[in-house]
Amino acid sequence: MAKLRIGVLASGRGTNLQAIIDAVETGEVEAEIAVVVSNRPRALALQRAMCHNIPSVVIRQPDYPGRVEHQVAIAGLLREKGVGLVVLAGFDRILVPEFVRQFPFRVINIHPSLLPAFAGGLHAQAEALSYGVKVTGCTVHFSTEEVDAGPIILQAAVPVLDDDTVESLSARILEQEHKLLPLAIQLIAEGAVEVAGRRTIVTRSQRGD
Ligand code: GAR
Repeated sequence: MAKLRIGVLASGRGTNLQAIIDAVETGEVEAEIAVVVSNRPRALALQRAMCHNIPSVVIRQPDYPGRVEHQVAIAGLLREKGVGLVVLAGFDRILVPEFVRQFPFRVINIHPSLLPAFAGGLHAQAEALSYGVKVTGCTVHFSTEEVDAGPIILQAAVPVLDDDTVESLSARILEQEHKLLPLAIQLIAEGAVEVAGRRTIVTRSQRGD
């Protein structure tokens, strides 16, 4: 069977992209990274792609009349590359419906909180800390037209310690992100994730047995 072709959208340092690259290279994730797209020309994610001979493309929003045109251009490229799963790995734009509708339940996002807590922004770790929760974590979910509200695929919990800073908490969450996102991709590649209303059903053990 042909390998699932994934397109990764990343705006920043790309450590989640790196986790996917590593998991593909070890065979832990049976998929192919068809393309990495960034809206930021200086994103470290682009260099990570280049180092592993993965095609990468910069598509900047200011080069388009607006958000919709920008994202329609990204969607066009992903289709051209035969992408069957779009992975948002630190992509700093809110998706427009014109994008999401082109890939129904074929876009996943990683968010650094236990959704639905601390949804909708780029500072979930700081929000968790200032709210005073004792447990936070990360979530991989399908992206739908509503921000951070699509069916949840996997979550990992992380304790918040009394002496945590945003940096220490973010690092603890990130460690889990790097496991969770490749695992979610592998489960989807295996056809082991079913969407049932607003829930998902994962039809194999996450430990591989
Ligand atoms: C990650 O922590 C990811 O969960 C977060 O951005 C970071 C990207 O790091 N995403 C969001 O906050 C989405 N709302 P990375 O560039 O090192 O993968």
